[in-house]
Amino acid sequence: MILPVIAFGHPVLRKVGVSIAADYPKLTSLITDMFETMYHAHGVGLAAPQVGLAIRLFIIDASPFDEDEEDKPKQLSFKKVFINAEILEESGEEWSFSEGCLSIPEVREEVARKPVIKIRYQDEKFNTIEETYDGIIARIIQHEYDHIEGKLFVDKISPIKKRLILKKLDAITKGLIRPEYKMKYPALKKKKG
Ligand code: NI
Repeated sequence: MILPVIAFGHPVLRKVGVSIAADYPKLTSLITDMFETMYHAHGVGLAAPQVGLAIRLFIIDASPFDEDEEDKPKQLSFKKVFINAEILEESGEEWSFSEGCLSIPEVREEVARKPVIKIRYQDEKFNTIEETYDGIIARIIQHEYDHIEGKLFVDKISPIKKRLILKKLDAITKGLIRPEYKMKYPALKKKKG
Protein backbone atom coordinates (compact mmCIF):
# COMPACT_ATOMS: atom_id res chain seq x y z
CA MET A 1 0.00 0.00 0.00
CA ILE A 2 1.36 3.40 -0.96
CA LEU A 3 1.39 5.71 2.05
CA PRO A 4 1.17 9.52 1.90
CA VAL A 5 4.56 11.17 2.49
CA ILE A 6 4.53 13.72 5.30
CA ALA A 7 5.47 17.17 4.01
CA PHE A 8 7.93 19.63 5.54
CA GLY A 9 6.45 21.54 8.46
CA HIS A 10 4.71 18.60 10.10
CA PRO A 11 5.81 18.13 13.73
CA VAL A 12 6.36 14.37 13.33
CA LEU A 13 9.41 15.15 11.18
CA ARG A 14 10.94 16.91 14.20
CA LYS A 15 10.50 14.14 16.74
CA VAL A 16 13.37 11.95 17.86
CA GLY A 17 12.29 8.44 16.97
CA VAL A 18 11.86 5.83 19.69
CA SER A 19 13.40 2.36 19.51
CA ILE A 20 11.10 -0.50 18.60
CA ALA A 21 10.96 -4.18 19.57
CA ALA A 22 10.33 -7.21 17.36
CA ASP A 23 6.66 -7.26 18.40
CA TYR A 24 5.99 -3.77 17.00
CA PRO A 25 2.50 -4.01 15.48
CA LYS A 26 2.40 -4.95 11.78
CA LEU A 27 6.11 -4.26 11.30
CA THR A 28 6.45 -6.51 8.24
CA SER A 29 3.61 -4.84 6.37
CA LEU A 30 4.87 -1.40 7.42
CA ILE A 31 8.27 -2.18 5.88
CA THR A 32 6.62 -3.51 2.70
CA ASP A 33 4.47 -0.37 2.47
CA MET A 34 7.49 1.87 3.01
CA PHE A 35 9.37 0.21 0.13
CA GLU A 36 6.33 0.53 -2.09
CA THR A 37 5.94 4.20 -1.14
CA MET A 38 9.63 4.90 -1.72
CA TYR A 39 9.75 3.22 -5.16
CA HIS A 40 6.55 4.95 -6.23
CA ALA A 41 8.13 8.32 -5.38
CA HIS A 42 11.49 7.34 -6.95
CA GLY A 43 13.34 7.78 -3.69
CA VAL A 44 16.48 5.95 -2.54
CA GLY A 45 15.61 6.11 1.15
CA LEU A 46 12.60 6.59 3.39
CA ALA A 47 12.35 6.98 7.16
CA ALA A 48 9.34 6.10 9.34
CA PRO A 49 8.70 9.73 10.43
CA GLN A 50 8.06 10.49 6.74
CA VAL A 51 5.04 8.22 6.90
CA GLY A 52 3.95 9.64 10.24
CA LEU A 53 5.67 7.31 12.72
CA ALA A 54 8.31 8.66 15.11
CA ILE A 55 10.18 5.35 15.40
CA ARG A 56 13.76 4.34 14.66
CA LEU A 57 13.20 2.67 11.32
CA PHE A 58 14.40 3.55 7.84
CA ILE A 59 14.86 1.78 4.54
CA ILE A 60 17.31 2.26 1.70
CA ASP A 61 17.66 1.07 -1.86
CA ALA A 62 20.63 2.72 -3.52
CA SER A 63 20.29 0.98 -6.88
CA PRO A 64 19.17 4.10 -8.85
CA PHE A 65 22.69 5.43 -8.26
CA ASP A 66 24.09 2.38 -10.06
CA GLU A 67 22.16 3.26 -13.18
CA ASP A 68 23.98 6.60 -13.18
CA GLU A 69 27.32 4.84 -13.32
CA GLU A 70 26.95 2.08 -15.87
CA ASP A 71 30.64 1.43 -16.23
CA LYS A 72 31.13 0.64 -12.56
CA PRO A 73 30.43 -2.63 -10.75
CA LYS A 74 26.91 -2.78 -9.33
CA GLN A 75 28.08 -2.60 -5.76
CA LEU A 76 25.42 -0.09 -4.74
CA SER A 77 22.54 -2.43 -5.50
CA PHE A 78 21.61 -3.09 -1.99
CA LYS A 79 18.29 -2.92 -0.34
CA LYS A 80 18.34 -2.66 3.39
CA VAL A 81 16.20 -2.13 6.45
CA PHE A 82 17.71 -0.33 9.42
CA ILE A 83 15.99 -0.70 12.78
CA ASN A 84 17.12 1.06 15.97
CA ALA A 85 20.17 2.43 14.17
CA GLU A 86 22.90 4.26 16.01
CA ILE A 87 25.74 5.95 14.19
CA LEU A 88 28.77 5.15 16.34
CA GLU A 89 31.36 7.15 14.46
CA GLU A 90 31.70 9.52 11.51
CA SER A 91 35.14 10.21 10.09
CA GLY A 92 37.10 11.73 7.23
CA GLU A 93 37.03 15.07 5.54
CA GLU A 94 33.56 16.49 4.86
CA TRP A 95 32.41 16.42 1.23
CA SER A 96 29.43 18.12 -0.36
CA PHE A 97 26.70 16.44 -2.34
CA SER A 98 23.37 17.69 -3.66
CA GLU A 99 20.62 16.16 -1.51
CA GLY A 100 16.88 16.09 -1.84
CA CYS A 101 14.12 14.63 0.30
CA LEU A 102 10.70 13.18 -0.48
CA SER A 103 9.25 15.35 2.33
CA ILE A 104 10.74 18.48 0.73
CA PRO A 105 9.89 18.20 -2.98
CA GLU A 106 11.60 20.41 -5.57
CA VAL A 107 14.37 21.45 -3.18
CA ARG A 108 17.94 20.29 -3.69
CA GLU A 109 20.92 21.70 -1.82
CA GLU A 110 24.55 20.84 -1.30
CA VAL A 111 25.08 19.28 2.11
CA ALA A 112 28.48 18.64 3.67
CA ARG A 113 28.93 15.37 5.53
CA LYS A 114 31.80 13.15 6.62
CA PRO A 115 32.45 10.29 4.19
CA VAL A 116 32.83 7.28 6.51
CA ILE A 117 30.39 6.03 9.11
CA LYS A 118 30.29 3.17 11.55
CA ILE A 119 26.74 2.13 12.36
CA ARG A 120 25.05 -0.39 14.62
CA TYR A 121 21.49 -1.43 13.80
CA GLN A 122 19.10 -4.34 13.76
CA ASP A 123 17.88 -6.00 10.60
CA GLU A 124 14.32 -7.19 9.95
CA LYS A 125 14.97 -10.31 12.03
CA PHE A 126 16.33 -8.16 14.85
CA ASN A 127 19.88 -9.43 14.46
CA THR A 128 22.28 -6.74 15.69
CA ILE A 129 24.76 -5.73 13.00
CA GLU A 130 27.73 -3.39 13.07
CA GLU A 131 29.06 -2.14 9.73
CA THR A 132 31.19 0.57 8.16
CA TYR A 133 30.02 2.42 5.04
CA ASP A 134 31.43 5.11 2.85
CA GLY A 135 30.59 7.14 -0.25
CA ILE A 136 27.02 7.39 -1.49
CA ILE A 137 25.74 4.62 0.76
CA ALA A 138 27.06 6.38 3.86
CA ARG A 139 25.51 9.61 2.57
CA ILE A 140 22.05 8.05 2.16
CA ILE A 141 22.28 6.42 5.59
CA GLN A 142 23.29 9.74 7.19
CA HIS A 143 20.33 11.49 5.54
CA GLU A 144 17.85 8.83 6.70
CA TYR A 145 19.46 8.65 10.13
CA ASP A 146 18.90 12.38 10.50
CA HIS A 147 15.18 11.75 9.95
CA ILE A 148 14.97 9.40 12.94
CA GLU A 149 16.78 12.07 14.98
CA GLY A 150 14.19 14.69 13.96
CA LYS A 151 16.60 16.48 11.63
CA LEU A 152 16.28 17.45 7.96
CA PHE A 153 18.92 18.21 5.34
CA VAL A 154 17.76 21.83 5.10
CA ASP A 155 18.97 22.28 8.70
CA LYS A 156 22.50 21.74 7.43
CA ILE A 157 22.67 24.40 4.73
CA SER A 158 24.00 27.93 5.22
CA PRO A 159 21.66 30.61 6.65
CA ILE A 160 21.86 32.49 3.33
CA LYS A 161 20.79 29.48 1.29
CA LYS A 162 18.11 28.70 3.84
CA ARG A 163 16.70 32.21 3.50
CA LEU A 164 16.50 31.72 -0.27
CA ILE A 165 14.32 28.63 0.07
CA LEU A 166 12.10 29.78 2.96
CA LYS A 167 9.21 30.69 0.67
CA LYS A 168 9.44 27.35 -1.07
CA LEU A 169 9.45 25.51 2.26
CA ASP A 170 6.38 27.45 3.32
CA ALA A 171 4.67 26.60 0.03
CA ILE A 172 5.42 22.90 0.61
CA THR A 173 3.86 23.07 4.09
CA LYS A 174 0.78 24.73 2.61
CA GLY A 175 0.40 22.11 -0.11
CA LEU A 176 1.17 24.54 -2.91
CA ILE A 177 4.00 22.40 -4.27
CA ARG A 178 2.72 19.01 -5.27
CA PRO A 179 4.90 16.21 -6.58
CA GLU A 180 3.49 13.22 -8.46
CA TYR A 181 3.33 11.08 -5.35
CA LYS A 182 0.78 11.45 -2.59
CA MET A 183 1.69 13.77 0.28
CA LYS A 184 0.17 14.84 3.56
CA TYR A 185 0.45 18.57 4.16
CA PRO A 186 0.48 19.92 7.72
CA ALA A 187 -1.34 23.13 6.82
CA LEU A 188 -4.19 21.21 5.21
CA LYS A 189 -5.09 18.97 8.15
CA LYS A 190 -8.86 19.17 7.80
CA LYS A 191 -8.99 19.26 4.05
CA LYS A 192 -8.16 16.70 1.45
CA GLY A 193 -4.39 16.46 1.26
NI1 NI B 1 14.66 12.74 3.48
